[in-house]
Amino acid sequence: MNREKDLRAIKEFWEAKAKEHGVSHKSSWEDRFCMGLEVGALAEYIEDGDRVLDIGCGNGLSTLDLVLRKKVSVKGIDYSEEMIRAAEGLCRESTGKGLRGTVSFEVGDIMNLREEEHSYTRAMTRRVIINLGSLENQIEAARQVHRVLVPGGLFLMSEATTAGLRRINALRAEFGLEDLEQPWFNLYIDEGEFAEKVSDIFDLVEIRNFSSTYYVGSRVLQPFVKRILSVPPDYDSEINRLFAGLPAWGDYGIQKLFLFRKR
Ligand SMILES: C[S@@+](CC[C@H](N)C(=O)[O-])C[C@H]1O[C@@H](n2cnc3c(N)ncnc32)[C@H](O)[C@@H]1O
Repeated sequence: MNREKDLRAIKEFWEAKAKEHGVSHKSSWEDRFCMGLEVGALAEYIEDGDRVLDIGCGNGLSTLDLVLRKKVSVKGIDYSEEMIRAAEGLCRESTGKGLRGTVSFEVGDIMNLREEEHSYTRAMTRRVIINLGSLENQIEAARQVHRVLVPGGLFLMSEATTAGLRRINALRAEFGLEDLEQPWFNLYIDEGEFAEKVSDIFDLVEIRNFSSTYYVGSRVLQPFVKRILSVPPDYDSEINRLFAGLPAWGDYGIQKLFLFRKR
């Protein structure tokens, strides 16, 4: 496999998404309910006064959501110029509309962070590390994040996992549903392997299965019911809304939040 070509194709994919969907959540993911659960889980580990680097911030929708919740100073970076253009537009529209902290956006690549050493108390990624094409790149990205965090700072990494994929597929199989596959542009995290490879620089404090109950509703029950009714599953389904409101239980979510503390 020609990795360079793949990485170029992945970047073009995100540029095209931003061009097509602009400030809509669809630039990042069709699944707005899961995005809401994700930012809610992340916000629990961010305190007023934190300096936060949101890496791969996309069009800034969830970045701004965080600044509505917390009195923090956030910088969002993304390697897609189109995404950053959309984020700056959203930011202008949000000024004076209840933002509790400050926010800025800039083009930047997680593989080559231009930030000063030790400049952030929190760094976060939401479905970004899975776009880096190889485990080596994923580990190098974690090392870049480590450099810009203060000692003891938290790396909040919300990413898709192979373990979650296996568990949800086992449940789907019992409902007669075919396996879900990783999208062509993603390389899901093998949580044991990843944590081990960064264990010299980060302590893994916790893994939050925040999307588990939601995945049971949205990736098993909804498609099962819709198949009986001969209609396609729909991210905006009321079943999804219902399950997004339930507490997380179990280990069926593909999407997990990893809390790493800088050593
Ligand atoms: C799934 S979207 C998530 C966007 C945002 N985090 C959110 O939750 O809405 C992935 C984002 O990561 C960005 N991305 C992928 N690889 C990147 C890299 N090497 N450096 C910076 N951003 C990257 C893409 O441009 C895209 O905006």
